[in-house]
Amino acid sequence: MLDVTGLSKRYGDVVAADGVDLRVARGRITGFLGPNGAGKSTVMRSIFGLVDPDRGEIHLDQVPIDADGLRRIGYLPEQRGLYPKMPIGDQVEFFGRLKGMPAARARRVGRDVLGDLGLGDRLASPLDQLSHGNQQRVQLAVALVHQPDVLLLDEPFNGLDPVAVTVLADLLRARAADGAAVLFSSHQLDVVADLVDDVTIIATGRVRAAGPIDDVRRNHGRPVLEVDTLRPVDWSSIDEADPVSSTPSSARFDVATDRVASVVAAIDRIGGLDRISYEPPTLSAVFAEVTR
Ligand SMILES: Nc1ncnc2c1ncn2[C@@H]1O[C@H](COP(=O)(O)OP(=O)(O)OP(=O)(O)O)[C@@H](O)[C@H]1O
Ligand SMILES: [Mg+2]
Repeated sequence: MLDVTGLSKRYGDVVAADGVDLRVARGRITGFLGPNGAGKSTVMRSIFGLVDPDRGEIHLDQVPIDADGLRRIGYLPEQRGLYPKMPIGDQVEFFGRLKGMPAARARRVGRDVLGDLGLGDRLASPLDQLSHGNQQRVQLAVALVHQPDVLLLDEPFNGLDPVAVTVLADLLRARAADGAAVLFSSHQLDVVADLVDDVTIIATGRVRAAGPIDDVRRNHGRPVLEVDTLRPVDWSSIDEADPVSSTPSSARFDVATDRVASVVAAIDRIGGLDRISYEPPTLSAVFAEVTR
C-alpha cells in the first residue's frame, strides 16, 4: 500500500537516509526501529511531505503522494503541535474538519476517539491543563480522527502509562484489522515485539533488517538455548559449550542448531534436565546485533 524506494536525504555532512526501502502493507502493522539519529523521523517526514528527499520515490497505492494522498494519512509528528488553550474536544473536531470531514461527523468521531483513549470526561479541558501523557493522547486522537488508510506515527507510545500503551496497541490492531496500513517508530522493543507483523530496522540511514518479525528474528543472530537442571551443575565441566550466563541449576547458551543435541545430552548426563527452551533471539538481541 505504502512504498518507499531508495529514499536518501543529506543535511550537510550528515546522511540522514541512505537508500531506504520501506513497505507498509494494508492490514499490517510495521514497527520502524533504529537508534537515536538513525533517520526514522526523516523518513516519516518525507512520506508526509515535510522533508524534500534528495532521491527516492514514495508511492501510495502505486501513485506518488499528492494532496489527496496526504488526506489518506494520519500523521503523528515527533514534535507535537496543538493549540494549548483550545478545549480538546473542539481541537480534535477542528483537525478532523481540516482533513475534510463534515463538522457533525468530525465532532462525533472526535468524541468517540477521545473516549477510546480515556479522555471522554475531559472534552471541555484546554490542552495545557492536561498531563504530558494525556496531551499525547489528544495528539493521537488528532492523527486518528479522520479514520485514515495509513497511520504514520512517530513514537506514539512515548509518555503513555502502561494502561494507555495497551489501549493504543489494541486501537492500532483494530485499525489494521479494518484494513489500515500502520507504520510506527518506537524504542520500546517489548511493545513492538508484541504488536507488529513486520519490522524495519535502520541505523545511520540504512536498512539493516526488514520483513515479517518472525523471519527477522530467525535470520539474525543465534538462537538461545535455556536449560534448568534437577541438580546443581559445575558448568565449567561441560566441554561442549560455555554458558552466556548461569546459576547453579540453570544456564543460557548461544549455540548453533547443529550442536544443540550434543550440548543438551552433556547437560542431562551431569545435571538431569528439568526444562529446555531453544528459541530465536529476542527482538532486542536482533536490534543490538544489526545496529552494532
Ligand atoms: N532539519 C535537520 N537539519 C539538520 N540535520 C538534521 C535535520 N533533521 C535531522 N537531522 C539529522 O539527521 C539524522 C537523522 O535524524 P532523525 O531525526 O531522522 O533520526 P531518528 O531516527 O528519528 O532519531 P530519534 O530516535 O532520536 O528520534 C540525525 O543525525 C539528525 O541530527
Ligand atoms: Mg525521531
